[in-house]
Order: sequence, then C-alpha cells, then structure tokens
Amino acid sequence: MPRFYVTTPIYYVNDVPHIGHAYTTVAGDVLTRWRRLWGDEVFFLTGTDEHGLKVQRAAEARGITPKALVDETAAHFRDTWDGLDIAYDDFIRTTEPRHYAAVQKFLQTIYEAGDIELGTYEGLYCVSCEAYYSEDELVDGNCPIHMRPVEHVVEQNYFFKLSRYTDRLLAYYAEHPDAVQPESRMNEVLGFIRGGLQDFSMSRTSINWGVPLPWDPKHVAYVWADALFNYCTAVGYATDEARFAKWWPVDYHLVGKDILRFHAVYWPAMLMAAGLEPPRCVFAHGWLLVGGEKMSKTRLNQIAPADLVADFGVDGFRYHFMVDQRFGPDGDFSYEAMVQRYNADLANNFGNLANRVLNMAMNYCGGVVPDERADGPLREAAASAFAGQIDALARLDFASGFGSVWDLIRAANAYIEDTKPWELNKQGDADAVARVVGDCLESLRIVALLASPLIPNAAHELWRRLGLTGRPEDERLPEAAAWGRLPAGASLDKGSPLFPRKET
Ligand code: MSP
Repeated sequence: MPRFYVTTPIYYVNDVPHIGHAYTTVAGDVLTRWRRLWGDEVFFLTGTDEHGLKVQRAAEARGITPKALVDETAAHFRDTWDGLDIAYDDFIRTTEPRHYAAVQKFLQTIYEAGDIELGTYEGLYCVSCEAYYSEDELVDGNCPIHMRPVEHVVEQNYFFKLSRYTDRLLAYYAEHPDAVQPESRMNEVLGFIRGGLQDFSMSRTSINWGVPLPWDPKHVAYVWADALFNYCTAVGYATDEARFAKWWPVDYHLVGKDILRFHAVYWPAMLMAAGLEPPRCVFAHGWLLVGGEKMSKTRLNQIAPADLVADFGVDGFRYHFMVDQRFGPDGDFSYEAMVQRYNADLANNFGNLANRVLNMAMNYCGGVVPDERADGPLREAAASAFAGQIDALARLDFASGFGSVWDLIRAANAYIEDTKPWELNKQGDADAVARVVGDCLESLRIVALLASPLIPNAAHELWRRLGLTGRPEDERLPEAAAWGRLPAGASLDKGSPLFPRKET
C-alpha cells in the first residue's frame, strides 16, 4: 500500500486559531481524505510550536508560566480542528519529551558532522517572526511582515553553516523541479539561494524556554531550529527507526508563503547535514486577507473558525475555504462572498439536485433505485468530472478539482431540464422516467463520493439517502467512481435540505 505523509505548519501558541490557520489545516485534511480514497496509507500531522521568545513574552504579559499558556492554547487548537472534522493522525507539541529527544539527536548529529559552529551574532530581530532581518529588508525600519520595530541583538550563538549548502541546494532543486510549488514559489526560492546564503544562528542564551543543546546546555535551540524537526519527531525519529524509515521523506509540507524560506532553504539544508532526504514537496499558499490585510492580533481582524461554522456548518466552512479561495495566491475573505457562494453552490446547485432527484424518485419510481439507466450524457460528464478532479488535485488546485465535481452537478441539473421527467411521467412513459432518474441517482452517488473529502458530512448523508450502506470514505478509487454501481432496488430517503439557504 503506498504511503503518503502530509503536514501543516505547527502553529504558534501565542495566538488563538483563526481562519488563516484553518485554511492550511482544512487543505491538509482534504488532501488526506482524497489520498485515503485512493487506498493510500496516509499520515496527516498538525500541532503547535510552543517555544521561543514570543511565547515566553506572551506568558509574561499574562502573568502565567509558559507551560500554562501553551497547555491552554494547544487545547484550543485541538478543539478547533476537531470542530472542523480534521482527520489528523497526530497532534505534535514541541514541548513533548519525544520532541526534545529528536531535536537533541538531530542537532548533535549536525554538530558532529561539523556544520554547527560557535560565533557571535549581532543583528536585527523580529520577535513576531522569530527571525533576523538585514537592514535593507526592513520597511521604514520595521519588520516587513509585522510592520513593527525590530530589536538589536548581540549574542554568542551557535551557527548552522548554511553557506556551505548553496550548491547542494541548487543541485537538488535542479534535479527536483517540483519540490517547491507552485512554480512561482520555486523561482523565489532559487533567487534567494542564488543571492548567497548566510550561516544562521540556531541557538540562544538569552532565554530558557526551549530545548537545551546537548553539548552546551547553556544554549537552547532557536525556535525554528527546534520547530522544523517536529516533522521528523512525529514519525519516529529518535524513538522508532523503522517507523521513521517508512514515513520519511514527507510528501507535502503545506505552508504559508511567509514561512517558505524556512521550509525550502533552511530545512532541506539541515536535513542534508543530518544525512536525511529533503521534503518531496513544499507547497506554499498565499495569505487569507480580511479587508485587504493579513489577519493579526494587533489589527483585531482575526476571525475564529467556530463563528463561521455556527453560520455555515462544518461542510459550508470547508467548502468555502477550499473552493472560493484559490490555494496559491492571496485571497480576500468576505462574509458576503461566503453567503453568496454557499447559496449558489451548496444550497442551489448541490442541494437542489439532491432534492429534485430524490423527489422524482419518490414520486415516479416508488422511492427505490430503478433498474434502468439511460447511460446518457451524464455518464460522460461523470467520467470527465473525475478526470478533471484527479488532474487538478495532483496540483493541489482544490478550487478546480472540486469545481470539476460541481460541473457534474450542473450537468445533471441541465439534464433534468432537457429531459423533463415530469412530462415523460405525464405521458405515462414509466421506463423513460426510470432511465432518466436512474442516471441522475447514479450521478448523485458519484458526486457524494468525489465530494466526500471536502464535505464529508453532507456526502455521507447523501450516501445514506441513496440507500447505500457504509460511508463514501470506505470506498476505493478509481473503481468506486465507475458508472453504474448504484444498486437497483435500494430504498431512498428524501430528507430535508442538506444546505438550507441563507438570507443575504
Ligand atoms: N510556528 C511557525 C511555523 C513552524 S512550522 C515548523 C509559524 N506559526 S504561525 O502560527 O505564525 O503560522 C502558521 C501558518 O499559518 C503559516 O503557514 C502562516 O502562513 C499561516 N497563516 C497565518 N495567518 C495566515 C493568514 N492570514 N492566511 C493564511 N495563512 C496564514 O509560522
């Protein structure tokens, strides 16, 4: 059985979960469910990044210990993901003993290989990014991402000799042109590497909230030099070699564009230094903006996923962020657009089709799946929806992938308009009615199956109403997407609207 390993970033616990975090996490979940449908053994990892100055200061500001703060926020992240039906396999926290063991083994290995050396660091540090900037990267003297003042820092630090990896990284990417996606992001990464890589400071003596370096415990690992290793910790690095060998290298690191450099430059170099393979793919998506701005605590424009779930349901939430927002460029979130899209795609297209077809089956076919099929145009439409979905999801183009499934929904609605089963019924042509309804029911089955990674709850409910047992996720592709697998004679259930319309 092929194995597939996908990760989200681990989120900083100085913040509470918002829709920006949810965006990546839902994408990871959809991809996970999609690969599971294909029979892959999938490992989907998410978690929290709990060390660093930012967390230490957030705790101080609240007058609590860092440990108390991280326990509270990590639980909040977990609850949020559970509330979005995120099927993660593990939730890693960087304060766990297993992670300390992995970071220490990793750093010791790189140290012994000679790629970590002591030096003095003087630089400009943004605490919010937990990253250093050079003078010319600043905007009006501020961090280019947070637009807040940077701090002047002088420290004796250990350095990772990143400068030694310029050629190896370029060679690696020349051989693996898909290892950073989308393509525009690869160009950005190559440009950065070609610009010349500087060694980076990977330890701190000024704080103690972190993993001590095994050979010099006055130092703790810099938060990024600790966090990135989580991807290895979770699959057994330092604790279960066989398990690690099975899962590494990772198939996809899903990340936001702001942390691309860490994942596509620092991380592969550190892996190389430790004698491990770089990630197969780092996929960087854009930001979800609100009113044209990145969400942040200081701008008070963060939206909690639970607030939208209360209005649109879990499936409505998942649908919006995967289909209305393209996974790659920046996207602007607006509540009005979410209502519109929900009504158009879920309440109307999807909901109406389910409703109309089940109604006709009740009224004209005795509430059971008819024997007959027309094997008309929907057969072709279903095949092409599936092919389009495969093609788009291979590029993590969720909007087109599920757009392709919605093409089948539109085709089925149009087919009903064209064939007018109510007139066929009036004319007393029961066989013709059964054939049309049979094709529509078959299409609904395929829609439920192919949409299940995105809207698992509605897909399961539709499955049940079609008289099918089990769940769509128990099916296996590609066989299950073949035309004609809906068993005749099964009892149908009309049910109430799957996505009730929202007032605008
Ligand atoms: N802790 C680091 C990641 C370490 S991974 C080894 C971190 N955490 S974060 O919580 O600040 O950000 C995590 C992810 O959330 C990043 O991919 C970031 O791009 C994403 N997002 C945070 N705000 C976002 C939006 N407004 N829109 C989309 N994604 C955003 O960085």
